[in-house]
Amino acid sequence: MSLLEIENVTRRFGGLVAVDDVTTRVEAGELVGLIGPNGAGKTTLFNLISGFTALTSGAVRFKGAAIDGSKPHVIAARGMSRTFQNLRVFPNMSVFDNVSVGSVGAMGQSAFAAVFGRRGRSDAISARTWEALERVGLAEQSEELAANLSYGKRKYLEIARALAMRPDLLILDEPAAGLNDSETAELARFIRTLNDDGLAVMLVEHDMNLVMGICSRVVVLASGRKIADAEPAVVRADPAVLEAYLGVDE
Ligand SMILES: Nc1ncnc2c1ncn2[C@@H]1O[C@H](COP(=O)(O)OP(=O)(O)OP(=O)(O)O)[C@@H](O)[C@H]1O
Ligand SMILES: [Mg+2]
Repeated sequence: MSLLEIENVTRRFGGLVAVDDVTTRVEAGELVGLIGPNGAGKTTLFNLISGFTALTSGAVRFKGAAIDGSKPHVIAARGMSRTFQNLRVFPNMSVFDNVSVGSVGAMGQSAFAAVFGRRGRSDAISARTWEALERVGLAEQSEELAANLSYGKRKYLEIARALAMRPDLLILDEPAAGLNDSETAELARFIRTLNDDGLAVMLVEHDMNLVMGICSRVVVLASGRKIADAEPAVVRADPAVLEAYLGVDE
């Protein structure tokens, strides 16, 4: 049994097949890249596995249990956390509160209780929040308003929120977008560290060096279809992948 099993998953939007009969998996502790040209269906596939979009057909299993049709917070509580392609940071909340919102689902406590006042927050939520903040190096800025963080730090804030759920699978949608080369390299090292500690990661990224440099397997989508699923060196040399990126017809 794989940690995450994606089986013949399809999602249509009207006449458009955004994700077309995709089958793949993520093993426990694996670091998998998901790449493909703009509009290939990467974010849609993430939305399908994390419960934000309903499947048209197919099945998704996480830790052996069917999760298609489950609500996002239920899937999150089972151990799958995600970040979003567009930052979802609450600018007028503190760094701490932004992250503690992430652990409420897992703790079965209401977001209201988690956000409003330390009294409403359980010790367990605080512990998870501190742990996640330390992990991403934001513990010292816990009381800072999120709006005052640099763009790069806000990206780590989002990751901290996901980590506060103590996930077994972390799915990251373009975490390096908007980062410069050295920030991207630092992020790559950080993701590697998370993975070295046993966390399975599925990563959507346009930065090819980042993906090829840290992933042990790369899945390639083009027009919703899976066209490759192999180790980086094999994917890099695959003519179908090159074609998909260059838009060349056979
Ligand atoms: N809610 C929606 N309604 C209609 N069409 C959608 C919806 N979400 C996505 N699509 C379409 O599905 C296709 C796949 O989009 P998706 O966002 O998954 O691509 P992507 O691979 O993440 O692209 P990018 O690299 O630009 O983020 C696109 O053609 C997009 O316009
Ligand atoms: Mg996308």
